[in-house]
Amino acid sequence: MNETLERWSSRRAFILAVTGAAVGLGNIWRFPYITGENGGAAFLLLYVAFVLLLGLPVMMAEILIGRAGRRSPMQSLSHLATQAGHSRHWRWLGLFGAFTVFCILSFYSVVSGWSIEFLVSSINGDFVGQDAASIGAGFDAFLADPARMTFNHTLFLVMTMLVVAAGVTKGLERLNNMLMPLLYLLLLVLAGHAATTSGFGPALAWLFTPDLSAMTPMVMIHAMGHAFFTLAVGACALMAYGAYMPDHQSLPRAAAGVAVLDVTVALLAGIAIFSVVFAQGMDPAEGPGLMFVTLPVAFADLPFGAFWLSLFFLLLLLATWTSSINLAEPMVATLQGWGLGRGQAAAVVGVTVWLVGLLSVLSFSTLADVHVLFGMNVFELVTTVPPEIFLPVGGALIAVFAAWVLPEVEALRALDAGPTGFRVWRTTVRWVSIPLTLVVLISGLI
Ligand code: PHE
Ligand code: NA
Repeated sequence: MNETLERWSSRRAFILAVTGAAVGLGNIWRFPYITGENGGAAFLLLYVAFVLLLGLPVMMAEILIGRAGRRSPMQSLSHLATQAGHSRHWRWLGLFGAFTVFCILSFYSVVSGWSIEFLVSSINGDFVGQDAASIGAGFDAFLADPARMTFNHTLFLVMTMLVVAAGVTKGLERLNNMLMPLLYLLLLVLAGHAATTSGFGPALAWLFTPDLSAMTPMVMIHAMGHAFFTLAVGACALMAYGAYMPDHQSLPRAAAGVAVLDVTVALLAGIAIFSVVFAQGMDPAEGPGLMFVTLPVAFADLPFGAFWLSLFFLLLLLATWTSSINLAEPMVATLQGWGLGRGQAAAVVGVTVWLVGLLSVLSFSTLADVHVLFGMNVFELVTTVPPEIFLPVGGALIAVFAAWVLPEVEALRALDAGPTGFRVWRTTVRWVSIPLTLVVLISGLI
């Protein structure tokens, strides 16, 4: 990467790019099913607390490092560390992050492929007149068909790697600009409509009346991991975007805006989905298929429901597309740093992710009962360990770097929030975010 990178065209473009990375399957697919598996309100409360205490401050730390270094993550880390008289081995943190997002992309692409399948089905009107049980049966049949799933996984990954090969700033910015608001609007309508259904009351009660005894160390680990995952924090992926952030833009304000948007998207999706769950007497702990079997039902009541459902899956795909681009970027940047051309790097990453993704595809058929670690099959493993262990570990190290290693003048300038804002941020990171992450990690592992 060049010494002097081009900046994002405007402050708004930077926020939209980070939003594009943040809003994705994490909000609409993962949030509802993890919340469902962890009992609802207690999980939700912890998740919001972790977004505020960990996700947000560490997000600022991560972007701040990129902004101070103005290079690719590995180069920024090594440059800033040596300048401050610390070891250039800090750069391996960038590689660890790239490995983390690599693992994440391997299942992200597969699940995005499920969205492609549902987009096509909804355009065909396949869900018209179907109830949750028959949609669920159709979904199970799809999961049991590795060929169809592989096709969609391949298609999605090709779409992603083509954009990545073309470079960061092109297309991406404009795409985000246009489409995020529409997805948000559609979710608002859906949640608004849910308020008129019989499942709405029970869904709200289930989501917002926490039972404190349900806050076990495992629930805390899941909630913490999801806070990092949903904000795209902990893998140095946002660090890469920080390098393009314009001068004179308050980082806390930008990050807070993204977090608010990200959390509200998840909440709206959760309200819409759990209203269906309770109206239909379904199990909230349905698992990874939850979004897919509930949303067709949610849309079915609306006038022109099939049309809105198709539009929804289209927009969801675009949201996961921008997230995937962000997931692929660190690996590609790393390979570029090792001398490969951008197109070559994108091809290498694409093929490798595709191969590893096949293991996730097969986790619903041939490899369903092959437990690689902790009694989990490959899909369960990659959807759990990288988001819930690797991201928090990476995030804690990023936080240590920004709040302890980086010279104060550099951090102060890159945060761009004045001396008081800086003190508040650094105190939070030093004495809340870092210790809390470690405590939750350790108690969960024990
Ligand atoms: N934040 C994205 C989502 O919620 C996932 C992601 C994680 C993207 C890590 C980039 C890095 O869908
Ligand atoms: Na998200």
